[in-house]
Amino acid sequence: MRMTKIFVSEPHPSAHEDGIDHRSEQRHRARSDDAILEISDDIFRKTIETNALGALRVTRAFAPLLTKSKAPRVINVSSGGGQLTGGADGWSPAYCISKTALNGVTSQLAAALPKFAVNSVCPGWVRTDMGGRNATRSVEQGADTIVWLASDAPQSLTGKFLRDRKEIPW
Ligand SMILES: NC(=O)c1ccc[n+]([C@@H]2O[C@H](COP(=O)([O-])OP(=O)(O)OC[C@H]3O[C@@H](n4cnc5c(N)ncnc54)[C@H](OP(=O)(O)O)[C@@H]3O)[C@@H](O)[C@H]2O)c1
Repeated sequence: MRMTKIFVSEPHPSAHEDGIDHRSEQRHRARSDDAILEISDDIFRKTIETNALGALRVTRAFAPLLTKSKAPRVINVSSGGGQLTGGADGWSPAYCISKTALNGVTSQLAAALPKFAVNSVCPGWVRTDMGGRNATRSVEQGADTIVWLASDAPQSLTGKFLRDRKEIPW
């Protein structure tokens, strides 16, 4: 299954993260997800389906294999844009709501899979195809918490939302 690309993208850093509003310079990257009252049903549905349902479907498919591991781990790459704490700033609403939903998937999976470590991560604003060249973090920095959760983090750490190896509010 493959759907439109812009909805897994992060065209600007979350205002929650660095306090800077990059919306005007990045607006062209997400024109179809600019305003909550103007999003088409199709865009909204595809965004949620890709970013939240997609992650659930992948986990569902891999859970029987992961169960054979002594330390099964699921890491959902979310975004500070999905945080409810602090309120929304209006930027890319479908994308942000899809990441809020993904965080809900993480929380529910952590409850359903008590032997697993299931967590959400915000990588920060990263210089990828999505983040663009002006992003503040290298790919290595963005991947750090994800790699740590996949390898060295305590197995007891589950059902959390993290950035820079630390828990952050949902
Ligand atoms: N970069 C940031 O600043 C930032 C900030 C917060 C969160 N994130 C999150 O980090 C994750 C990875 O982003 P990235 O920055 O690493 O972006 P990236 O380098 O542009 O990579 C995006 C990846 O997603 C795949 N993809 C795009 N649309 C897809 C779709 N509809 N279905 C399946 N796969 C799709 C792409 O596949 P192809 O290569 O085959 O096209 C590519 O492998 C995303 O979930 C994003 O929301 C990124």
